[in-house]
Amino acid sequence: MGGNPLKLGVLVSGRGSNLQAIIDAIERGNLEAQVAVVISDKEDAFALERARKHGIEALFIDPKAYSSREEHEKVIGDELEKRGVGLICLAGYMRILSEYFVDRFRWRIINIHPALLPSFPGLHGQKQALDYGVKISGCTVHFVDEKTDHGPIIIQAAVPVLEDDNEDTLAARILEYEHKIYPRAIQLFAQGRLEIEGRRVKVRRAPAHTWAVVNPPLEG
Ligand code: GRF
Repeated sequence: MGGNPLKLGVLVSGRGSNLQAIIDAIERGNLEAQVAVVISDKEDAFALERARKHGIEALFIDPKAYSSREEHEKVIGDELEKRGVGLICLAGYMRILSEYFVDRFRWRIINIHPALLPSFPGLHGQKQALDYGVKISGCTVHFVDEKTDHGPIIIQAAVPVLEDDNEDTLAARILEYEHKIYPRAIQLFAQGRLEIEGRRVKVRRAPAHTWAVVNPPLEG
């Protein structure tokens, strides 16, 4: 496409496999964006190492160094703005953002959640799905609003829950699709193809498909 690629700021707290999927998609040429900075609230987050390995600036901004959540977020926001970040991607960031931060970057923050929202928001979405007994779960990328795991939905992947799944096997099956849909959501944003209308996100020029995931299968 040419021009200046969209600059991403990725907020992390842990292992950073979604960050890695974003970096890999960019390096493979499947995502026209650039990770400008990775910011963690945990000093030992493996995601920071992943970033540095790819020559990406990686910052630890210690929440304990600030007297309030807003102050911590103000510093994060300033670092993001300094680098001209156009989209903030939460990738396993374990803090709930305040209204201040959400408002400052309105519709420029997205998150990935390991369940088919609005089912199973909050922590341990995979375990919640298993405990509830759903036959299909999955993952969701959505815009962030003031409520946790709540904003307008950009893309979802439906993933079957198998008979002998435990939390780890289901989480791994879902994670494989997280790594596919997160870069795709970012690419759609970068291409200017997302339009928010109330709760719905219209995706321009996306091919429609009409088949469903049925689990257990209809035959056999
Ligand atoms: C993922 O399951 C994501 O959906 C959730 O937190 C986890 C982060 O994993 N929000 P990773 O740090 O990207 O490997």
